[in-house]
Order: sequence, then structure tokens, then C-alpha cells
Amino acid sequence: MDQPRKLHIKSFGCQMNVYDAQRMVDALAPQGFVETANADDADLVILNTCHIREKAAEKVYSELGKLKLLKQDAAQQGRRFEIAVAGCVAQAEGEEIIRRQPAVDVVVGPQSYHHLPDLLAQARREGRALETEFPVEDKFGLLPPPQPEAIRARGVSAFVTVQEGCDKFCSFCVVPYTRGAEMSRPVAQIIADTERLAAHGVREITLIGQNVNAYHGEGPDGRPWTLGRLLHRLAEIPGVARLRYSTSHPLDVDDELIAAHRELAALMPFVHLPVQSGSDTILAAMNRRHTADDYRRLIDRFRAASPEIAFSSDFIVGFPGESERDFVATLALVEQIGYAGAYSFKYSPRPGTPAAEMQEMVAPAVMDERLERLQSLIDSQQAAFNTAAIGTTVDVLFERAARHPGQIVGRTAYLQPAHVMASDDIIGQVLPVTIHSLERYSLLGELASRPAEPKPVTIGA
Ligand code: SAH
Ligand code: SF4
Ligand code: F3S
Repeated sequence: MDQPRKLHIKSFGCQMNVYDAQRMVDALAPQGFVETANADDADLVILNTCHIREKAAEKVYSELGKLKLLKQDAAQQGRRFEIAVAGCVAQAEGEEIIRRQPAVDVVVGPQSYHHLPDLLAQARREGRALETEFPVEDKFGLLPPPQPEAIRARGVSAFVTVQEGCDKFCSFCVVPYTRGAEMSRPVAQIIADTERLAAHGVREITLIGQNVNAYHGEGPDGRPWTLGRLLHRLAEIPGVARLRYSTSHPLDVDDELIAAHRELAALMPFVHLPVQSGSDTILAAMNRRHTADDYRRLIDRFRAASPEIAFSSDFIVGFPGESERDFVATLALVEQIGYAGAYSFKYSPRPGTPAAEMQEMVAPAVMDERLERLQSLIDSQQAAFNTAAIGTTVDVLFERAARHPGQIVGRTAYLQPAHVMASDDIIGQVLPVTIHSLERYSLLGELASRPAEPKPVTIGA
């Protein structure tokens, strides 16, 4: 048997980027590759890039500069060191990457990484760098499934991509260009993946997609299934204790999805529903195709179905043309909804998007100041939400040993980390925990003898 070859993969992006990294490892496992945490002793390094932020490509080129030095060191030692660039920057830049950094062996976009083993072999055979256009095909149907050891090593919570790409074309966003048109995986594939994960110890499945609730994959009956229907089916799989989905677009929320929150005990009451802005003028300029009131009504419908649901969101401050009045409307929306947490970003123009052509840029100092005001409001809501857990008994899915000896960490329904002193055989179990205190963002508590009580969420106005 050949020596195992070491693969180091570095992901820069979203949940799907992280999931893709795992699938690249799965794709290369049959070639004898095993993962390593260091680039220095690797035989192959994959940069799994993200294009969402400003200067994303520049950061990739600077990483590649460092890898080039490692490649030179390896060559001096007579060792082969290969470099692959994957992810959304690979899609956007293509062959330009090889032109600018000839040390790169292979460039592969998010739709073609199942070809990585062949591409690497071909690059080696032909002694040249490769970037090839592939036809759009069912990569998930062609990828080898994860090995049981890999599933166990990744822990009790796993992502499954169910939908990819986006047809929404928010005016600021590169994703429709890097990930392409929206497509949904067939139901049968998702069931098979989930059954395999559950059979090897996974207890929590997060269904991911750039616009996950636009899911419309073909069901076993030959008809398109909604995300709500898919969730019902997955909840039947033995071993699956918790289901989540991310990221949703407000326009694609339907009654079935909302009802699933009432009907499925396994569906966690924590919904990431980005709104981006509270101003109708800005929402229109962003091409979000909903108003702030549409969003408020949607939140009300979720809460009517299940008062336990808490929300998180994404916000952009300083979108071109955003006035103080627009920004105050965002603050008002946040005040009113009451979030358990949210991400907020300063607007940055992405080349090729319609917003990048807009003229009325908000001054950087104004953006900084708005970001700070928004973040402090969100932080105070998050702190209130976490403090409200003290004294309650909540279900926790235990994930792994924590840093302190004897301490095990898991997550609540709302993804709050929760620590208890216990033996590690609780890992993989959902157990009630009475929370007694809060340390930064972590809940501390002890295993409870009584079951957790559902509790309506009350934050915000
Ligand atoms: N598909 C997901 C994720 C999109 S990217 C969704 O629709 O929510 C994640 C977040 O990055 C977005 O929600 C948005 O808030 C932010 N973002 C995207 N493009 C941006 C840009 N050009 N400038 C600032 N933030 C941006
Ligand atoms: Fe980007 Fe909008 Fe699609 Fe989300 S919904 S991926 S923000 S275009
Ligand atoms: Fe980034 Fe691509 Fe995800 S641009 S956010 S890795 S879809």
C-alpha cells in the first residue's frame, strides 16, 4: 500500500463552502489522501475560496504567494507539493489565477470539484496547470459518499446541501454569478445522505442552500417537493434528533414551511431570515422584492405557528444612497423584531453587480458609525436573549469535550453553546440542562432530572 498523502484544505466562506470542503476530502479519499491540519507538511493544499467580501481575490493571491514558498521548499527536498484553488473566487477568476500565480496546479469551480482527482492526475501527467470548463452535471450523484470514519470524525452535527445557486439577483451580491442558477437536489439523494450520516452517529442535520427555501427538488413521486415536505420526510429517519435549514429568503417562505415548525418536534425553532435593511427605499434598490412590512408580517406568521421561534438575520449598512432616515428604519425594525443574534456588514461594491455601478456611496466614516450603532443594538438583544436562559431548563445536543477537563459542550435549540460537567458518553445525546449562569456567549449549567420546558421567546418591542 502506498503512503497516505496529506491534504490540507482551507475554507474561507459560508456554510456551503465548509460542506464543499468535506466533499472534496471525500472525493480525494479513494486516492489515498488523508486530511492534515497544517499546510507545511501537506502534499496537496486546497484553498476553498469565497468571493463575498471586498478584496477576496487579492487575499487569495497573497495566500498563494505563501504557498509558492512552501512549494519551493518541498521541491528542494525532492517532495511534490500541489496547490489547488477551489470555491467562488476560482469560479470568478478562472485561468487568471494560473496566469498570476504559476505555482498553482489546478483551478476548479464549485460545480466541478468532483473532477478534482482527475484534474490533479492530468496536471501531473501533462506537467502543466489546468483550469477546465466542465458541463453542468449532478456532482452530488458523482461524488463518492463520505466514509464512516470521516462522518464520525466530523461530529454529531452535519450539513447537507439541498439547494445551490440563486436566481434572486440582489443588486449587491455575487452569489448568482459564482454559484450559478438555482438548482435543487432530488429528494432521494438527500434521504440517502441523511440516512448514511444518521447511521454513523450524526444527530443534527442542517439543510443548506444559498436560498434553501426555494427548494423544489424532485420527489420519489416525480413531482417537485417543497422544503417543508422534505423536512417532514427527513424527520422520520431514525437517529435524526434535530433539523435546521439555512439560508432562507423572505420571498420563498410558504405556509408549509411555517406549519412544519408547529408540526415537527425535530425542527429547531431558530430561523435565519436575512432582511438586509428596514428601509423600503433601500430594499427596492437592493432588489429584495419585499418591503419591511412584508417581513414583519412573515415574522408574525412564524410566531403564530410557534411562539418558541427566535430569529437571526443579516444586515448591510451603507448601501449606496442609504440616508440617516433609511438607517433609522433598520434600527426600528431590529428593535421591533428582537433578534437572538444577527450579522451586520458594511456594504462593499462587488465588481459585476448592479449596485457596484451606483453612484451615491455612503462615506466610510458614516458606515463605521452606523455599523457600530446597529451592532450594539444587536449585541444588547443577543445578551438579553442569552440572559433569559438563566434559570430555565433547556434541551442540549452534546457535541464534544470542552477545553476544561471534565466539561462537555453542546448546543441549545438556538445554537447557544452550553457547558456541563459530565462524562463524555453524553456526546451525541439530547439532554435537559438547567442553566445557572452565562460566561460571555456560553451558557453554563448542569444536567437536569426534569424535562426541558418550551418557553415563548420575548425580546424586542
Ligand atoms: N444566500 C445567503 C447568503 C448571502 S451572502 C442569503 O441570501 O442570505 C451572506 C450575507 O453577506 C448577505 O446576507 C449580505 O448581508 C452580505 N453581503 C453580500 N454581499 C455583500 C456586499 N456586497 N457588501 C456587504 N455585504 C454583503
Ligand atoms: Fe445573494 Fe440575494 Fe441570492 Fe442571497 S438571495 S444569495 S443575498 S442574490
Ligand atoms: Fe462566499 Fe461563495 Fe459562499 S462567495 S459566501 S463561498 S457562495
